[in-house]
Amino acid sequence: MSSSNWKQYFDKKAEVHGASVKSSDYFDDESFFMQRDNTLRWLGESKGKVILDAGCGVGAFSEPLVKQNTVYGVDFSEKSLEFAAGRGLQTSADDLTALHFEAGKFDVVLCIGVIQLIEQYKSVIGELARVTKPGGTLLIQTLNKGSLQRKVLRLFEKSKKFDKMYAMDELKKVFEAHGFEQIQFLNIYHPFKFVTTGDGQGLFSNTLSTSFAIKGRKKID
Ligand SMILES: C[S@@+](CC[C@H](N)C(=O)[O-])C[C@H]1O[C@@H](n2cnc3c(N)ncnc32)[C@H](O)[C@@H]1O
Repeated sequence: MSSSNWKQYFDKKAEVHGASVKSSDYFDDESFFMQRDNTLRWLGESKGKVILDAGCGVGAFSEPLVKQNTVYGVDFSEKSLEFAAGRGLQTSADDLTALHFEAGKFDVVLCIGVIQLIEQYKSVIGELARVTKPGGTLLIQTLNKGSLQRKVLRLFEKSKKFDKMYAMDELKKVFEAHGFEQIQFLNIYHPFKFVTTGDGQGLFSNTLSTSFAIKGRKKID
């Protein structure tokens, strides 16, 4: 789908499902909480930080961070942003390919379940890297191209809704090219409720995880 179609798609979802995680296309609440709680635990403690939730949707993913941090939420679905604002995010309607924030503004940048929708993912990661502070963390979660389960499911899928998936080493190279170090992975094995962590080299995690998150620390010059 084109970018304007995705905007309409998520506006419509938010109109129908409101603040529910169904607006952000999660399989169900259980799957959402499993992914969110494991990912935020892996991110580590955040207190007094300036955080960007890029492609925040209705804001449910970063909601637990709002109490102790300043959380900005950007999305091009204005309808979704109404619910994100209700959850305490400081929202703005922006396209992730051209963020209006100054360089190095954020201690932590999260981008969860978004880049699989975006053809120009390299310019989006470039923007996310630009607004991450030196010493700060960028964390991106997306679909695993190496997943055997996804390969089989795609054979039977009627709508090719999610056009893109990513190999773990492919994103690692993009992170490195933007000056990130200490790169690590969190692997998720939907519908199972366990996760693994590592450096992205294991055959098990590369072929059996359905999604993964990658995080890195931006080098200080
Ligand atoms: C699958 S939802 C995930 C929402 C949220 N990150 C979460 O995990 O709950 C993807 C979100 O990305 C937004 N999005 C997709 N492409 C975008 C773009 N180019 N610029 C801004 N937002 C975009 C959509 O509007 C949608 O809200």
